Amino acid sequence: MKKVIGFLVFLAAAPIAHAADMEAGKTKAAAVCAACHGATGVSVSDAIPNLAAQRPGYLEAQLKALKDGTRKNQIMNAIASQLSAEDMANVAAFFAAQPGAVTGAKSAMSPNLAKTGVTFPEGYKETFTKYYTVNFPATKQVRYYYANKTAVAAAKAGKPLPDGSVLLAEAYSAQVDAGKNPVTGADGYYSADKLLFYTAMAREAGWGKDIPEMLRNSDWNYAVFTLDKKHRPGVNQAECLACHKPLDNVSYTFTLKQLAEAK
Ligand code: HEC
Ligand code: HEC
Repeated sequence: MKKVIGFLVFLAAAPIAHAADMEAGKTKAAAVCAACHGATGVSVSDAIPNLAAQRPGYLEAQLKALKDGTRKNQIMNAIASQLSAEDMANVAAFFAAQPGAVTGAKSAMSPNLAKTGVTFPEGYKETFTKYYTVNFPATKQVRYYYANKTAVAAAKAGKPLPDGSVLLAEAYSAQVDAGKNPVTGADGYYSADKLLFYTAMAREAGWGKDIPEMLRNSDWNYAVFTLDKKHRPGVNQAECLACHKPLDNVSYTFTLKQLAEAK
């Protein structure tokens, strides 16, 4: 009897080496990875690597490192943390089997992620609360964060931000001195020079329904606006969603605490 139990324990503990499931890999890739890497591993932008024809062992090793955090990238850390070991083997096998990209080839952006429900909040300067400022040393920018009444009221009540919430950030270039270093004002923040663009996030019922589960931020949508308040072309909402996704317990918002403390 002892021997039998020993054998069963061995069976349960032994790693089950089975062949990667190419079809499952394809399904997962189409649902999630395609938003950035393209359905066949030819990516949608210069900032995102192609995966087609890459070695499967390399892809799997990168996914493991991105999941355990030894390789750092906010977007991919959030994605990989949602993949099982089996998912990794499957997507790695699928992408590795795709033909490599011809020079300059690029996939089309996923239409569901290119479209956003967020419209420019006209009159925000009068009706929104300015609740936070942050310096961006790498890009020499300073950003001012604004929130509408719905968002401020919920944050102050310690409630999740409900439908109708709108958060807007103004991105300014910083004034620079003769040595090209940003000039800091008395408040410790860079002195703003020129308004460059706006970023925004907002939520309404149903806005998340066409977004794949691994990227979905409940019903939040994201947008970037140009100075003439139009949607900036070529914005891949998948990147916004992926980076904000791990913040599901704080309404997908990095600055919820500051919002709750808004004056
Ligand atoms: C929101 C965009 C986005 C999505 C969705 C996404 N990725 Fe990525 N992926 C990136 C970016 C950006 C990088 C580059 C990371 C870096 O610079 O370290 C990357 C890097 C990788 C790498 C490393 C490639 C290399 O050459 O080292 C692998 C592997 C990878 N992604 C696999 C996947 C898989 C599998 C999925 C789907 C389950 C996926 N990614 C979904 C944006 C995305
Ligand atoms: C690499 C991760 C990352 C990506 C990608 C990203 N964000 Fe964020 N976002 C942040 C962080 C971190 C903050 C908090 C303050 C800061 O550093 O700006 C933030 C803050 C914000 C805020 C203010 C509300 C809040 O969450 O605190 C808005 C609005 C916003 N982001 C919109 C966007 C939009 C639109 C996109 C896509 C075009 C995007 N973000 C992509 C990391 C990211």
